[in-house]
Amino acid sequence: MTTLPKENIQNKITLADIQNHKKTDAPLVCLTSYTAPMTKILDPYCDILLVGDSLGMVVYGMENTLGVTLDMMVNHGKAVVNSAKHAFIIIDMPYGTYEDNPAHALESAKRLMGETGCEALKLEVNRSLAPTIERLVNNDIPVQAHIGLCPQKIVKEGGYKVKGKTNQEISDLIDDALACEKAGAFSILIEGTKEAASREISATVSVPTVGIGASPACDGQILVTQDMLGMITDHTPKFVKKYATLADIIGEAVKGYAEEVRERKFPNEKYVY
Ligand code: KIV
Repeated sequence: MTTLPKENIQNKITLADIQNHKKTDAPLVCLTSYTAPMTKILDPYCDILLVGDSLGMVVYGMENTLGVTLDMMVNHGKAVVNSAKHAFIIIDMPYGTYEDNPAHALESAKRLMGETGCEALKLEVNRSLAPTIERLVNNDIPVQAHIGLCPQKIVKEGGYKVKGKTNQEISDLIDDALACEKAGAFSILIEGTKEAASREISATVSVPTVGIGASPACDGQILVTQDMLGMITDHTPKFVKKYATLADIIGEAVKGYAEEVRERKFPNEKYVY
């Protein structure tokens, strides 16, 4: 499977396509998306679009992802699903909707899948949540397991801490990944984890891995779209490569508009009825 050019979008990426990536050399191209217009731009070039709970920070200006609600994920999930023709759509389960017990997780997951029509859900987990993954998978809900640095644990852990630094941490992460795979997760997302540890996890599991701040050896890569487009001006994590500086381009455009409005140059006769 290759990423399709814009004019050639016919095929919708399926779960089986994603699962097959472990056997191919072509890495999965993944980005986050939260809105309809951005989805239409990203969709032709991406295998997976994630409606990440990072939307709490990127869209809503929250300090972290803990305040994101199921309603927010449903609404943004619908916008993305309605606008994507090609990419496989995964939605994050937000904090507080799945961790306490598998029955609550299933109730939240059914609402998220049912109301949005997305293809899969992502949960921040370790091996203690394997029964929850199993419960969802047994109810036909495909699960991507997010391990390593889990932003929903930021308060508990006192900040964003890179994982896989010690032999014990590496072996714990491998146990987490294997437990998630055994519970039925179709993919493992590895965030903020030392390169060697991420590489080892990726080589150990038989489902495709997707990395963010992880390793080029992962079976796919994901970034927060607004980070890689240079729209976020405050903090840039080490793992973000900026492929554009849209904040500057938008600033210049808005400056031009503001000047023309103030000078009564816009709208001129070309833009009025
Ligand atoms: O919420 C999100 O956008 C994510 C990515 C950082 C992987 O989980």
